[in-house]
Amino acid sequence: MKASSQWPRLIDQGSICRLTAPLAEFCSGLAVGGALRPDWPAFLQCRGTNSLSQPDRQSPRCDLTEARSDDPAETDCRPVGPSPRLALSKAARGLASAGMSSLFDLTGRDIWIVGGAGYLGTAVVKALVQHGATVRCADLADRAQTMVEREKLAAGVTPETLDAGDDAETLRFVRDGLAQRGVPAGLVVMTYKSFPKSVSALQPADFDAANHVNLTSSFILAREVGEAMAEKGRGSVVIFSSMYGTVAPDPGMYPAPILPNPIEYGVGKAGLQQMARYLGVHWAPRGVRCNTISPGPFPFPSMQEGNPEWMARLRAHCPMGRVGRPDEMAGTVIYLLADASSYVTGHNVAVDGGWTAW
Ligand SMILES: NC(=O)c1ccc[n+]([C@@H]2O[C@H](COP(=O)([O-])OP(=O)(O)OC[C@H]3O[C@@H](n4cnc5c(N)ncnc54)[C@H](O)[C@@H]3O)[C@@H](O)[C@H]2O)c1
Repeated sequence: MKASSQWPRLIDQGSICRLTAPLAEFCSGLAVGGALRPDWPAFLQCRGTNSLSQPDRQSPRCDLTEARSDDPAETDCRPVGPSPRLALSKAARGLASAGMSSLFDLTGRDIWIVGGAGYLGTAVVKALVQHGATVRCADLADRAQTMVEREKLAAGVTPETLDAGDDAETLRFVRDGLAQRGVPAGLVVMTYKSFPKSVSALQPADFDAANHVNLTSSFILAREVGEAMAEKGRGSVVIFSSMYGTVAPDPGMYPAPILPNPIEYGVGKAGLQQMARYLGVHWAPRGVRCNTISPGPFPFPSMQEGNPEWMARLRAHCPMGRVGRPDEMAGTVIYLLADASSYVTGHNVAVDGGWTAW
């Protein structure tokens, strides 16, 4: 497909491509005021591929994760109208025009995510961008920067360094963010700290240090950002708990020398669930919601590859008979941040393949 001046060009920035012209300029009829009409998905066909890609409704951005160009620098695209495969039925269009299509839309919303450069955080950050959010991703040292570069997310994500275990640094992170970006629509806290020690070996100082990151730092972040949200009358705070904040690890699953999931971890995670209940109720009259997510088994790839027996035990213990994939974590975060969950607060959502259901 030859380049045409009538067609917008996409500058490849990884999975996110920026149109050089506002979508409205060439998509008249499909676009309103620079944004795609929510009830009419337009599709772009890109040079070098037959795939179709649905542009984000927040012009001028489109997601090319499915439709990759063969030219890493530039892609010529043309609108081809609604995809026959995905064209909305009349009934669906009715729902869309009634606003139902925007239930999970985060377009134009600023989301801060702390501890977002990790195994699950990376999948969450990608999903946030795909749902239209702008993202401020903070993590230890250069982890957020490295993740953003590795995943080619620079167009939608601002990486920052933060040690959330340092109270002064955390307060500065919130203050600077409010001054520079304004009050975010959402806050996601994904940090944790624990020590690979048995109950008898764990020192009180270890217990305090873990609690400080898991509980105190999460409290500071949630309170400072949540209060700013409450001033505006809206916002959603999502804190990562764990299945081990709900149930204890089964010692039978951890034959020596494997150590059970440590006590301070689960104690902190249980506390986070109560924190979300408390803050959810506390802020409820002022429009701010607070919930926890409790992941089940999502072992790191290194753990999966090097421990076949352990993996078999995990799978056997899980009603769904398998461990979770990082992308399976993203949907619940989107749900809790978006309007789809506007009446959900003080709640803990288990994403654990049924681990805590029996
Ligand atoms: N992976 C699982 O199986 C699982 C299960 C239950 C709960 N969780 C929870 O999900 C969340 C994400 O876990 P993950 O599996 O992606 O782990 P991860 O270690 O890959 O991610 C955690 C991230 O938090 C960051 N972090 C830690 N301390 C920090 C601090 N003081 N300041 C800033 N950043 C800090 C880490 O650098 C890391 O990038 C955690 O809260 C974890 O407890 C995970």
